[in-house]
Amino acid sequence: MTKLAVIYHSGYGHTARVAQFVAEGAGRHAEVALYTAEEASARLDELAAYDAIVFGAPTYMGSVSAGFKAFMDASAPVWFKQGWKDKVAAGFTVSNSPSGDKLGTLQQLSVFAAQHSMIWVSTGELPAGVTGSEINRYGSFLGLMTRSDNAPAEQTPDAADLESARRFGERVAIAADQLRRGRH
Ligand SMILES: Cc1cc2nc3c(=O)[nH]c(=O)nc-3n(C[C@H](O)[C@H](O)[C@H](O)COP(=O)(O)O)c2cc1C
Repeated sequence: MTKLAVIYHSGYGHTARVAQFVAEGAGRHAEVALYTAEEASARLDELAAYDAIVFGAPTYMGSVSAGFKAFMDASAPVWFKQGWKDKVAAGFTVSNSPSGDKLGTLQQLSVFAAQHSMIWVSTGELPAGVTGSEINRYGSFLGLMTRSDNAPAEQTPDAADLESARRFGERVAIAADQLRRGRH
């Protein structure tokens, strides 16, 4: 079965919540494991077993949180061997403001994936303003954007953002599943 890991950092619980919904969606087509950035840094060898890795970081000061960046830097030994080459990758973020400079975080995550020669999967959803639905409310194509809206993690991101996360996870898992079957 296709295997997908979600690796995230969360200072206050919002990104952890989104990670759970990404994992739930992905779980429809893959065997899924959740790792905090700290756990993933300590268990880098395990990640070789996954077909896809989804990266999640809160946006702090317009970029990934220091906790996630520590994992990025810890992955350098894998980079030297290009150990994640041709695995599927995708990214998501949470921030307080509607923009909040979330794009900066997703750009960092996609460059990180490219440094590892991974295959990046976009959101694949038209913006909510075009479809009239509430999916992909922030109109992001590069990766999933969600919003904490200055409320605790028990309340936000809201249902529409969490459903966007579920659909995003499902899309990444389908891409990874198709690629794995094609290779076989
Ligand atoms: C140090 C710090 C910097 C932040 N910078 C931003 C920012 O640049 N843009 C924004 O919209 N929100 C910013 N926020 C708010 C967080 O993105 C928001 O609270 C998010 O939900 C945190 O995710 P977490 O609960 O997973 O840590 C910042 C929060 C902290 C603690």
